Amino acid sequence: MSPLSAVSTFPITLLFADGATRAIEAGAGQKLTDAAEAAGLSLLTDCANGQCGTCAAQCVSGSLAMDHYDRSVLPDEDRDDGAVLCCVSRVQGPCIVELPYDASDASADEPEPQMGRVHAVTQIAQDTVRLEVEVDDALHFLPGQYVRVRPQGEAQWRSYSMANASGQTRLVFYVRRVAGGMFSRWLETAAAPGAQMEVSAPRGSFFLRDEERPRLFVAGGTGLAPFLAMLRRIGDDATAAAAPTRLLVGVRSGAHLFAQEEIEALRTRLPGLQVSYASEEAVADGCHQGFATDLIDAVTLDPATRVYLCGPPPMVDAGRDAAVRAGIRRSDVLCERFA
Ligand SMILES: Cc1cc2nc3c(=O)[nH]c(=O)nc-3n(C[C@H](O)[C@H](O)[C@H](O)COP(=O)(O)OP(=O)(O)OC[C@H]3O[C@@H](n4cnc5c(N)ncnc54)[C@H](O)[C@@H]3O)c2cc1C
Ligand code: FES
Repeated sequence: MSPLSAVSTFPITLLFADGATRAIEAGAGQKLTDAAEAAGLSLLTDCANGQCGTCAAQCVSGSLAMDHYDRSVLPDEDRDDGAVLCCVSRVQGPCIVELPYDASDASADEPEPQMGRVHAVTQIAQDTVRLEVEVDDALHFLPGQYVRVRPQGEAQWRSYSMANASGQTRLVFYVRRVAGGMFSRWLETAAAPGAQMEVSAPRGSFFLRDEERPRLFVAGGTGLAPFLAMLRRIGDDATAAAAPTRLLVGVRSGAHLFAQEEIEALRTRLPGLQVSYASEEAVADGCHQGFATDLIDAVTLDPATRVYLCGPPPMVDAGRDAAVRAGIRRSDVLCERFA
């Protein structure tokens, strides 16, 4: 018997940015986030499946095994330097993990999830589904936020941004189906009207800031969803609606375009809104051929612009670089990564 196999739990030390240290115990193979939760700590996560990078941390001593994750979110060279994604990290021995936020950020209790029922599932474009879910208690959220959902019978949660206005019982999501994905498979095989799912409280820091300055929204694919909620909110306020807002929408092909009628309807309430589309292939009339982020270089940005980027990680990274090149301060760029 190896010395390690005789040990049932390992000591894990969590070092927080404010200097606070928490000592927890974890079983061999246990997820780091589960071990922390058992100790009353809620490590910060968004996707919870290695696709967004929110939970990145540094393993400064020992090592952690990692389940599947997106390598564009955590490049191999960062991994070699000890970077880990907490949500997919499994304990295999004693270790020390440095987290880039304060201990108080990991201590907040999250409200209990509520049950939701599928109202409708509609294929609205290639690989893209509009999912409507009915909940009992109206969901109040900041436009741009997301919830975690867990279909009945599934073990894992997935994150989706609300496209509807806050304060409603009918939630609208736009979901891109990916081959081999858990939620994507559930959408195809089980998501009929009445199917049940748990719906978390709203989460996330990618929400519309209440401020008088120009805005640039850049969406990749279903990364458009949070912007639809933001535009609805802007349309409710005449002063905000008159302020310059530019929306750049990027899709893989013309067949992937969706929600254009919704955007047109919003445009009638938003005199300050300008919309441009980009498509990598099968370009529709009036579309730029290429990426939405190419269009950032083509527009003149007021340096006071707040930039919001949402979509696949490479698009978000390219958009942030383009915004900084255009004279926007990095701290004025807000990002949400969907894989
Ligand atoms: C804050 C946030 C908000 C989001 N909002 C939206 C939204 O509004 N709309 C939207 O479309 N998406 C959104 N996403 C992304 C979404 O949460 C899911 O990641 C996405 O829908 C894929 O989920 P899935 O269960 O179908 O696929 P997953 O099961 O997560 O699989 C993803 C990919 O990884 C592959 N994979 C999985 N496990 C393995 C493995 N062990 N080995 C090899 N490959 C594997 C799958 O084949 C698939 O290609 C959001 C993400 C975040 C973080
Ligand atoms: S929360 Fe871990 S990568 Fe998204």
